[in-house]
Amino acid sequence: MKRSTVRDIASRYKNGQKLVSLSLYDAWMARIADQLDVDILLVGDSLGMTVLGYETTVPVTIEDCLRHTGAVVRGSKKALVVGDMPFATYQSSVEVALHNAARFMQEAGAHAVKLEGGTFMASTVATLVRSGIPVMGHIGILPQCVNIKGYKVVGRDSVEVGELIEDAKSLEEAGAFAVVLEGIQSDAAKKISESINIPTIGIGAGSGCSGQIQVAHDMLGLSGDFLPKHAKVFADVSSQIESAFREYSAEVKDGSFPSKENSFE
Ligand code: KIV
Repeated sequence: MKRSTVRDIASRYKNGQKLVSLSLYDAWMARIADQLDVDILLVGDSLGMTVLGYETTVPVTIEDCLRHTGAVVRGSKKALVVGDMPFATYQSSVEVALHNAARFMQEAGAHAVKLEGGTFMASTVATLVRSGIPVMGHIGILPQCVNIKGYKVVGRDSVEVGELIEDAKSLEEAGAFAVVLEGIQSDAAKKISESINIPTIGIGAGSGCSGQIQVAHDMLGLSGDFLPKHAKVFADVSSQIESAFREYSAEVKDGSFPSKENSFE
C-alpha cells in the first residue's frame, strides 16, 4: 500500500479533487480514518484540549506532539501524516525551527509539519522546505496566539482580506504544500483559495476551500460542553461511551459481570 506524498496531494488538488483531512491523535482512530482514503492526517496541537484536558493549545509540549504523531504514523499506511509544531518551538530562530521540525520527521516519522503564521513565518518555511521538510502553513485564527488575539474570526474587511492574501502568497512562495485557513469569513477564504496555486484546507472557512479539516473529537461529540460553530457532530459517541460505562457499572454492582463467558474456568 502506497503512502500519499505531498506530490500526490498536489496532483489531487490540480485534478480538482476536494481534499479530506482530519485532526486526530492516536493509532486506532488513524487506522479507521486510513481505511476511508482520508488524504491528510494532522496530529494537531488541539490534542491539548481534546486529550490532555488543557484550556488552550499553549501548554502542549513538543514531547506531547511527538508521542501522538508517532502513534498516528504507526496506525496508518496510506495518509500523509502531518505533525503540528506546538507553541514556541519554531518562532525564536530558523535554527530552532529546523531542529524541532527534524525531530518530527526523525523521531515521530511524520511526513510533514504544520506551523502557524503567514508572511512573518515565510523565511522559516523556506528554510525547512529547502532542508527537505514539507510544510503546511496555517493562517486566520492562530490558536497559539490566543492570549494576544483571542479566537476572533478574521477576513471581515478589505484590509484583513488583503493581509490574508499576502500571508497565503508568501507561504506559497516559501514552498508550503498547503495552507490551513482557520476561522476566516467564507468569501474571504474563497478569494484566498483563488489567489494561490496550492491547496487551502479550511476549518471554519466555508466551502470555497480546496479541502476541509475537522477535529475528530468534535465530529464524534467527544469535546465536552463547548462545540465550535464550525464543527458538526457526525456521531454522538460520547453518549454511547456513557451508556456503555453505565451498563458496565450496573452489571458489576449486580454481579452479572463478569459472566462465565468472560472468566477462566
Ligand atoms: O490543532 C489542530 O487540530 C489544528 C487544526 C484545527 C487545523 O490546527
